[in-house]
Amino acid sequence: MTRTRLLAVLAGIAFLATPVLAMAQQKADLGKREYDSNCAVCHGVTGKGDGPYAGILDTRIPDLTVLSKRNGGVFPFARVYETIDGTNVLKAHGTRDMPIWGFDYKVRAAEYYQDHPYDPEAYVRGRILALAEYLSRLQTK
Ligand code: HEC
Repeated sequence: MTRTRLLAVLAGIAFLATPVLAMAQQKADLGKREYDSNCAVCHGVTGKGDGPYAGILDTRIPDLTVLSKRNGGVFPFARVYETIDGTNVLKAHGTRDMPIWGFDYKVRAAEYYQDHPYDPEAYVRGRILALAEYLSRLQTK
């Protein structure tokens, strides 16, 4: 193989690999992907609570970029996790406007795995952890 040919082949590989790598990187940010498809509609793409649903709900949608600021500079991880999961919210505490994602993800896991053996708790936990980690990255100082 001549040198020019080799260079052409390498350039071709680099050209073809670029979108694949870009896709792989996007895929790797599971938290952002989950956030953009499930949460941004209410909380807004930036997390500031200005999603398209903001004007529709009676409840004010909280700004998710100031969770640390309002908690003495520490990201309130456990509270965030439990809020997203939502399955331990007692009925007696009333209903809430935010969907119960713990339940939602469990249903999705069942649809995804169907007859294969799987651990629904692990599926739910993985998604909630990814979301909480993503939210921790949205915090303003
Ligand atoms: C239907 C609109 C809606 C969607 C969709 C939604 N939320 Fe919420 N969220 C709310 C509202 C409203 C509140 C305020 C508490 C309440 O009334 O339930 C809230 C509260 C929160 C809080 C607590 C904030 C605090 O001050 O402690 C967190 C964290 C949160 N949402 C994260 C998420 C994540 C992550 C998703 C996506 C998986 C999501 N939300 C999807 C409406 C929504």
